[in-house]
Parts: sequence; structure tokens; C-alpha cells
Amino acid sequence: MGFVNGVCCVLLFAWLAFQAILVSGNERSTYIVHMDKSLMPEAFASHDIWYSATIDSVKSQNHESSPFLLYTYDHAFHGFSASLSIDELELLKKSPGFVSAYGDKKATVDTTHTYEFLSLNPLTGLWPASDYGKDVIIGVIDTGIWPESESFKDDGMSEIPSRWKGTCEEGQEFNASNCNLKLIGARYFNKGLRASNPNITISMNSARDTEGHGTHTSSTAGGNYVEEASYFGYASGTARGMAPRARLAMYKVLWDEGGFASDILAGMDQAVADGVDIISISLGYDGMPLYEDPIAIGSFGAMEKGVLVSASAGNDGPGLGYLHNGIPWALTVAAGSIDRTLGGSLVLGNGLSLRGWTMFPANAYVEDVPLFYNKTISTCDSIDHLAEVPSSAIIICENKLSSVADMLSFVANSNAVAGIIISDDQSVYEFNDFPYPGIVITPNQGLDVIKYAQTTPKPSASIAFQQTFVGTKPAPAVAAYTSRGPAASNPSILKPDIMAPGTLVLASWIPNAPASSISPNIQLSSNFNAVSGTSMACPHASGLAALLKGAHPEWSPAAIRSAMMTTANPLDNSHQQIRDIGTDFEIATPLAMGAGQVDPNCALNPGLVYDATTDDYINFLCSMNFTMTQIYTITRTNISCSSPSSDLNYPSFISLYNSTLATGGITTVQYYSRTVTNVGDGAATYKAKVSAPKGSVVTVSPDTLVFSKMYEKLSYSIAIAFTGDKNGTVTFGSLTWIDENSKYSVRSPIVISPMVDAW
Ligand SMILES: *[C@@H]1O[C@H](CO)[C@@H](O)[C@H](O)[C@H]1NC(C)=O
Ligand SMILES: *[C@@H]1O[C@H](CO)[C@@H](O)[C@H](O)[C@H]1NC(C)=O
Ligand SMILES: *[C@@H]1O[C@H](CO)[C@@H](O)[C@H](O)[C@H]1NC(C)=O
Ligand SMILES: *[C@@H]1O[C@H](CO)[C@@H](O)[C@H](O)[C@H]1NC(C)=O
Ligand SMILES: *[C@@H]1O[C@H](CO)[C@@H](O)[C@H](O)[C@H]1NC(C)=O
Ligand SMILES: *[C@@H]1O[C@H](CO)[C@@H](O)[C@H](O)[C@H]1NC(C)=O
Ligand SMILES: *[C@@H]1O[C@H](CO)[C@@H](O)[C@H](O)[C@H]1NC(C)=O
Repeated sequence: MGFVNGVCCVLLFAWLAFQAILVSGNERSTYIVHMDKSLMPEAFASHDIWYSATIDSVKSQNHESSPFLLYTYDHAFHGFSASLSIDELELLKKSPGFVSAYGDKKATVDTTHTYEFLSLNPLTGLWPASDYGKDVIIGVIDTGIWPESESFKDDGMSEIPSRWKGTCEEGQEFNASNCNLKLIGARYFNKGLRASNPNITISMNSARDTEGHGTHTSSTAGGNYVEEASYFGYASGTARGMAPRARLAMYKVLWDEGGFASDILAGMDQAVADGVDIISISLGYDGMPLYEDPIAIGSFGAMEKGVLVSASAGNDGPGLGYLHNGIPWALTVAAGSIDRTLGGSLVLGNGLSLRGWTMFPANAYVEDVPLFYNKTISTCDSIDHLAEVPSSAIIICENKLSSVADMLSFVANSNAVAGIIISDDQSVYEFNDFPYPGIVITPNQGLDVIKYAQTTPKPSASIAFQQTFVGTKPAPAVAAYTSRGPAASNPSILKPDIMAPGTLVLASWIPNAPASSISPNIQLSSNFNAVSGTSMACPHASGLAALLKGAHPEWSPAAIRSAMMTTANPLDNSHQQIRDIGTDFEIATPLAMGAGQVDPNCALNPGLVYDATTDDYINFLCSMNFTMTQIYTITRTNISCSSPSSDLNYPSFISLYNSTLATGGITTVQYYSRTVTNVGDGAATYKAKVSAPKGSVVTVSPDTLVFSKMYEKLSYSIAIAFTGDKNGTVTFGSLTWIDENSKYSVRSPIVISPMVDAW
């Protein structure tokens, strides 16, 4: 079998695509099997022995070898994974305690490539309130970790919390001395991978990262301070994770050779058993119902134990409905841009200075060089034409039909020393590979540059590289790549939940893989990389969730998520509604960014929270069209479904309509009820403020909530009425509860969305 393993730093959308195995009746492949532990016959001393005996009992006559057990699971859910043939599986289904089984599946890593860090304040707010996450443990489910990275040094770290039960597993180029007070655990899981291909040679059989992805996500969530970090001179400064004093534990489940659901489940299961507080998982399964999605199943078990799972939305934007990890009991994170631009300056011979975009990874010398422009040649799409460019000139390139990368590669094959690329393609700013000296400017800037080149007898220009500009406006904007809701697996919950920085995030990298390149064949390495993707947004949210857990140890996963959502900011740094790069800078909808950009210091004191218990999630599952077996696969306990309810106590609202039905002028009304818990100082009175989606009427009852004490719960209902044929449009607004002193503002997005059929 073949695996496509994207190298993070050179592909815009790199992922590990893992091939499913084709199975004929006789061949074995891996199945994840859910069992009802309560049905274990008394003869067995432990469930491990029971599972082994069960597997032995189904051995097929057609095989000389026996089917074998890969993992037993006892934390996130009960069961095991095993290598079985189809006839063995059929026998297994008749065994006592069998609940369900499904084949091992491929996973997608949410990486595009790129940078930033949200600035938290050491003097006030969430950092000091949580002691920088000191006693919180973040489990990262990923490609492994580079333990020698400076981000994982334990300078300034105190003793490991005594409740920690994890370990530093030895393996290839990895031993116990690689863990310390920062990286407190590292384990690896590849039985599923090996079972899929018994002959496989695993190139790095340990928790060591060979990809960069896991090192990057871990350092983003909880990396220690590293001075003078930069990506080839760009974004230089002191790097740190969101929770710089939190502990990290790596669970390596993705391999150069592939990644399998059984291994991912084993990693999540172990993380919960080891005692992590937050799980950060920057990978996902596309097109999977909840009861077959290992991340949904693993995160249900985590939620029950009070562990919040923070997961990436995916990089399949901007079309609606391709989001993954839209799991009701997890936090789903979208990606946005940051207010930092990496780039360079273009200075013309007449003194005009322009800021442009470049990521050329060196300080190329381009000083007072003749500038060349010829309408025909400057299309930069023909080697023959470009042969006419005089040597040691800068060529101006403008061609709406060519990509920036294509124009740049033609320039690289000419005599020119650099290229000025005129383009309005916003998505190039999410990209980190820039193998030839050049600078990208906008068509508007291009007018001045072309005019200067055409009207001056000896035009010239200089380019300065390795520059970092902060205060870019507007920022954040929703990244084009971030996957959009509705969540196909459960469209009645608005997903994603929040947005965090995902574009050109600077964080640690592995030193022995390329992080950039110069003129196609020279690969460069770096201890830091600037990469983009929801994979990079997710660990920001995970680190912030860890800080909230540190500040409020008693909060449930739902309360932490609620605090992050209801205080998220829908406005950008120019105080306008956040815009969406993927829709040409239209105003972003909650289907792209959830409640908005995460605001950590506000999340510390949200005023009210929308809490949810395991029972609430079970009632929600009961309202879905699932069989009891499918529900059991997720819950692992017999439940009665006495009060099914699709109305989960969620801090957001989505109304769906069928865009192919011509409803004419008929009004549709959808009702929701919610309960909020007062986590403010004491007595408080909140009033509802509604901003109704265009063409709808939103009614809140009661519209005033009077709390007499802390932790009091009060309920309200909301009706969303909309008319007519909405023709595929997405409209949105919000409900905000504001207290009488205007100290707290508890905002929930409302969206009216077409149903989508993305699967
Ligand atoms: C662990 O690895 C380090 C670095 O490779 C080495 O110096 C050390 O001797 C090893 N320790 C053990 C116990 O193997
Ligand atoms: C594994 O190796 C054995 C012996 O070389 C070979 O017979 C078998 O076909 C291989 N299996 C796979 C799945 O490649
Ligand atoms: C531009 O280049 C084309 C193709 O080489 C050439 O025919 C034309 O004369 C040039 N135009 C100018 C103004 O030099
Ligand atoms: C509900 O599930 C049943 C059985 O899986 C299926 O036949 C039916 O079409 C489903 N109904 C809806 C509305 O999805
Ligand atoms: C779960 O339900 C099944 C069938 O309804 C029953 O046989 C089993 O004993 C139940 N288990 C528990 C723990 O109640
Ligand atoms: C929308 O309505 C059409 C026409 O009645 C129907 O065929 C389709 O299944 C509906 N779509 C959904 C997602 O319910
Ligand atoms: C609905 O949208 C389609 C495609 O955008 C458009 O062609 C059509 O005119 C719209 N219909 C109405 C009634 O607005």
C-alpha cells in the first residue's frame, strides 16, 4: 500500500492521506471493536483476558495464523482493536458482549503552512490568573515531538503534578531522558499501522517527530520561552506557547508510513488514563458519522472524565459543509489571519517605497538594480520571452491567468536577479515557500511601479527582505482554507465554535526536514517554521483552554468552551465585522468562524456559562436517527433514551432550511431553550439584546434574567422565525445577554443556513 505524505513546509495543503486497505474475505485487516464490558463472563479475571479469549475463539479455518489483538481500550471507550478476516468478524459479532465494529480508517492532518502568537499580558488577565497554565497538562495527539527543541526545555518549570500517571516511553532515538518537567510524557502507537502492513519498516519507531507537525502544534499550545526565534529572519522575537508553563505529553499516532483510527483511539484513551486536562488534536476524519469517528468516540470518554478535546475544523474551505470534528462535546477551531505581515520593501529609484509580500528565506542583495518592464515579456509565462530580460535586472510580472508561484518559477529560469509580481491573490499570503528573490505587490501598487518603469529613462529599484510588519489591518480575517459548517455529522449544532490564529504561525520545527528552499534544489532547515492551517489554530485554542482550566479548575469542558465562545470577538482590529478571505472579503459568517476570534482575557470572566453534562449529550444523541447500538458505541453505557432532545444547551444557534424547497412566503419558526449559569460575582441582572439575521424575527423569553447569587441557573427560550425562499443564502445575527453594569457581555451567534449535503 502507498501513502502520500505531504512535506509540511513546501505544500500549501499538505496532508497525510492514508489509504484504506482493500480486503477480500480471507485477508485480515484491522477492526475497532466496541464491547459491553458489563457482559464479561465471570470466568475471566480481566477484560484483557476476555478480549483475547474472544479473539482466539473466532479463528478462521482458512488461516494458519491466529487473529491477533492490537490494543485494548478501557478509558475513552471499552473494547479492542484486532486484526481479523471478514469471516472471523462475522463470528465475533455473535460473541457475548459484542456491540459494534468498524474497519480502521484513514486520517487527515490539518496542515497548510504558515504564522503568529496571540499576545497575552503578564500583568493582568488570563496569564497571571492561571499562573501561565502551571499545573495543567496538555496531551497532544499528533506526529510526535522533537524533544531537544528549545520550546520543550524545562527552565523555570516546577515539579510535575503528582496526579500524573503518564510515562516517557523508550524507542528509536528516544529515551526517558528526553522527557523533563515540560515534556512530561511521550508515547507512541502504531499497532494499527503495522497490522495494515506486516512487512512495513517504520522509519522512526518512537515518539520522535519526523514530520514537524507535532513539534509545531505542541510548541504552539505549551512551548516554553525561546529568545531570538525566527523563520529565516521573518517574525523574529521571543517565541512561546499559549500556556508557557503548562506541561506537555505527546501521543504519537501519525507516522511517515500512515495513520490509523485504532492508533488514534489508543492515543486518546491513554491520554485520558494518564491524566491530561486538555487534549489537542489537529487532525480529523472527513465524512464520518459520530459513531464511527474515532475522535468523536475518544472525545466523549474524555469529556466524561472532565477533559476538553480541542480539535481542528479542517482545511477544506471555503465551500460550505466540509468541516470535520464538528463533534457536539468537543471544541471545534477555525483558522484566521493575524495582524502580522511577513514581507519586504520595494523602493523605486524615485524614492517611492512600497510594502510587499515575500518569504524569500535569505537576505538577498537587490540594491539599485535596473527595472525591466515590457507588456509582452512581463506576462512571465514563457522562457523564450524571458530570455530577452537583460541580466541583473528586476523584472515586473503581471498576468491574471498565472499563479504567483508559476510566475516566480519562470523568473527563476531567466537572467533576472529578482521579480516584482503583481497579484491580487490573497491566498498567497498563507503560503511560506518563496524559493526565488521577489516581492508580491497589489495591482494598485503595480500601477505606480509600471508607470515609473515606463516613464523614466533608467528605472531602478531595491528590495529589502526579511521584514516583519505588525498592526496589519484588517485582522483577523477568516482564512480561505478553513473548513466551513454546517457540520455534516450533526448539522443542528453550529460549528465551528471559535476562530484562532492559523496563518503563518511561527513555532518549533524539526531540524532535519526542509523548512524552506532556494532555487528549486536547495532545501533549508530551521528550528522554527512559519506554517498555516487549522492545525495551527487548534493548539492556540488548546493552550488557551489549558489556561482557563488552570484559572477555573472546577469548570467542565462545556463551561470552558462556553467561556471561549460567548466572549469571542466578532470584530476585527478596525472595529468592523471580521471579513472572510475565502469569499473575497465579504463579512464572515458564523459557519466560517463560529462566535468569532477567541479573546482569552475576556474568557477568564464570562459572566454566564452554558454548561452541559454527559446526560445532556446522551439526550442529544438519542434525538439523532441512530440505533441503540450506534449510541452505545459512543456512550459505552446502557442508556434508556427517556428524554431525547436535539436542543443541546449550546452557546450558539443554527436554523437550517432546505434550499431546494420553494417555501414561498411561508414562515418557519424554530424554537430553542437554554439554561445559563451565573459564574459572575453574585447577584446580577442581564438583559437580552438581539441582532436578528436579515429577514428574520427573533424573540427571547424572558428577555431579562435576574440572578440572586453565584452559580444560580436560569432558563430562557428563543424563537427564530424566517420567511420565504432563502435561495441558498446564509444570514446571521446574535443574541447577547448584557448585565446591568455592562461588565459582562455574553454573546451567542445565530445563523440561518441552507442544509448542505457535503458527503
Ligand atoms: C538517552 O539518550 C541520550 C542522548 O541520545 C544519551 O546521551 C543517553 O545516554 C541515553 N540514556 C539512556 C539511559 O539510554
Ligand atoms: C510480506 O513479505 C512476505 C515475504 O517477503 C511476502 O510473501 C508477502 O507478500 C509480503 N506481504 C505484503 C503485504 O507485502
Ligand atoms: C517588448 O517585447 C516584445 C517581444 O520581445 C518586442 O517585440 C517589443 O518590441 C518590446 N516592446 C518594447 C516597447 O520594447
Ligand atoms: C433513519 O435511520 C433508518 C435506519 O438506519 C433509515 O432507514 C432512515 O432513512 C433514517 N431516516 C432519516 C430521516 O434519516
Ligand atoms: C445493557 O443492555 C443489554 C440489552 O438491553 C443487557 O443485556 C445488558 O445487561 C445491559 N447492561 C447493563 C450494564 O445494564
Ligand atoms: C430538500 O427538499 C427536496 C425536495 O423535497 C428533497 O428531495 C431533499 O431530500 C431535501 N433535502 C434535505 C437535506 O432534506
Ligand atoms: C437563486 O440563486 C440563483 C443562483 O445564485 C439565481 O440564479 C436565482 O436567480 C436566485 N433566485 C431567486 C428567486 O433569488
